[in-house]
Amino acid sequence: MTESRNRIAVMHGVNLDQLGRRDPALYGTLTLAELEQRIATEAGELGLRTSFFQSNYEGAFVERLHELRDEADAILLNPGAWTHYAWAIRDALEIAALPALEIHLSDVQSREAWRRTSVIGDLCFATVSGRGPDGYTDALKLLREELDRGGS
Ligand code: DQA
Repeated sequence: MTESRNRIAVMHGVNLDQLGRRDPALYGTLTLAELEQRIATEAGELGLRTSFFQSNYEGAFVERLHELRDEADAILLNPGAWTHYAWAIRDALEIAALPALEIHLSDVQSREAWRRTSVIGDLCFATVSGRGPDGYTDALKLLREELDRGGS
């Protein structure tokens, strides 16, 4: 087992601090704090340790990604709208050089055309979209498998 490789950095981007006030049909009713609590519990059951970060400032998000190379073994990220155009976040994710999984609460493929573009998708080993909070359960299992497999 790869017990030493179990640190998951959960990164939430722009406007995700507003969960609980955003359209529940798209994003559910949990606040970000409630979602993160759920993620931490489920991660623990899989032997994963989580750290959480959210910012509405692209530069802060980029700088946090820079730190992760030494502080995490994998990244679970939902950059919000930055997903669709923020090339600096893509570059920072590439610099982090860790296994990464892209996640969205809503089904971005079935919404507006501009949401179908992801500038980070090809850097991620998997994308989970449209499953609401349950998607994070799926994502953690995929991250566990990837770390066990020795993904980098
Ligand atoms: C989102 C989808 C994005 O298109 C949107 O801008 C968000 C949230 C999601 O989790 O469904 O802010 O990333």
